[in-house]
Amino acid sequence: MQYSKPMLKEDALEGKVILVTGGGSGLGKSMSKYFLELGAKVVIASRKMEKLEAAAKELSESTGGEVLPVQCDVRKYDEVEATITAAKDKFGKIDVLLNNAAGNFISPTERLSHKAFDTIIGIVLQGTYNFTLAVGKDWIEQKQAGNILNIVTTYAWTGSGFVAPSAAAKAGVLALTRSLAVEWARHGIRSNAIAPGPFPTKGAWDRLFPENLRKNFDIKKKVPVGRVGEHQELANLAAYLVSDFSAYVNGEVITIDGGEWLKGAGEFNFLDFIPDQMWDQIEKMVRGAKS
Ligand code: HXC
Ligand code: NAP
Repeated sequence: MQYSKPMLKEDALEGKVILVTGGGSGLGKSMSKYFLELGAKVVIASRKMEKLEAAAKELSESTGGEVLPVQCDVRKYDEVEATITAAKDKFGKIDVLLNNAAGNFISPTERLSHKAFDTIIGIVLQGTYNFTLAVGKDWIEQKQAGNILNIVTTYAWTGSGFVAPSAAAKAGVLALTRSLAVEWARHGIRSNAIAPGPFPTKGAWDRLFPENLRKNFDIKKKVPVGRVGEHQELANLAAYLVSDFSAYVNGEVITIDGGEWLKGAGEFNFLDFIPDQMWDQIEKMVRGAKS
């Protein structure tokens, strides 16, 4: 299928330095791979150095691009600043910040400790504002243009039970995206977000759709187009948003979910389960309501 293929022309990100938080696994790694294929240099930052080093090796071998792995807990501002220094020491500058790192798991909210809440809000919201503030201050001081891309999710605006800390944090990230799109445009800094629907990754699936849930519940049924996302199609969208081709896109959140959230939102969308032949009976009953 076309959507599984790379979309942009080969040199679309030539010379750009892109810092990807959580770039050692899942979607962050897939986006990093495509950025490298398009000529960018990439810094991947997260907590587990062994994983980052393995990912950096794999990515640079498969693309021929340059990857710098940096150990960093996005909740710790001093580590965030040290990551920025390491990136600039290696590549001389940062052009794009991709806030992708996240923590999440399903749980009834009343079962959570306050520390569980702190943990998710810390990784998602604090991690995003830590990097945004530190990189943004540097861009403004250096009078350098910049580009921020944040990964949110569709429940940033609908909310969602059983992932309340993540929903609250992602809503904050979305508000930050829109706020800075206006405020920092005068410094040449754009801010956008992507809201992905379900894209299989080990990190998300183990914590959100564990085996026993997966057996009884087909996630594809929630998606009008009848499938989950492929990493390359998300990478295509991200590459466009971090490239100069999207220079006039600012403050936008682009949903890539096959229509999932709208299906969940429409009051009567559940009626798509009704087989065609049953509509004859239903129509008869509904028309009969007049008498
Ligand atoms: C209840 C839990 C819990 C669970 C952890 N806690 N798991 N409480 N149910 N299943 C509690 C702990 O008991 C502890 O509180 C607190 O949360 C912090 O847990 P730690 O394990 O100490 O935290 P940490 O080592 O920092 O690990 C963070 C983590 C972990 C979020 C808990 O899962 C992680 O490292 N995740 C990173 C990757 C990830 O989550 N990827 C998925 C992103 S998917 P106490 O009080 O006991 O100290 C995503 C998709 C969104 O965001 C949309 C999908 C469609
Ligand atoms: P993932 O592989 O688990 O990615 C999460 C990444 O965040 C990991 O690389 C992890 O690396 C890093 N991370 C976690 N805590 C961190 C911390 N304190 N400091 C630094 N890095 C940290 O899951 P994913 O599915 O690819 O998720 C990527 C993004 O997509 C997230 O923002 C997620 O909310 C979003 N998203 C995913 C889906 C989906 O269906 N997959 C849907 C909507 C939105 P370490 O463990 O090494 O720290």
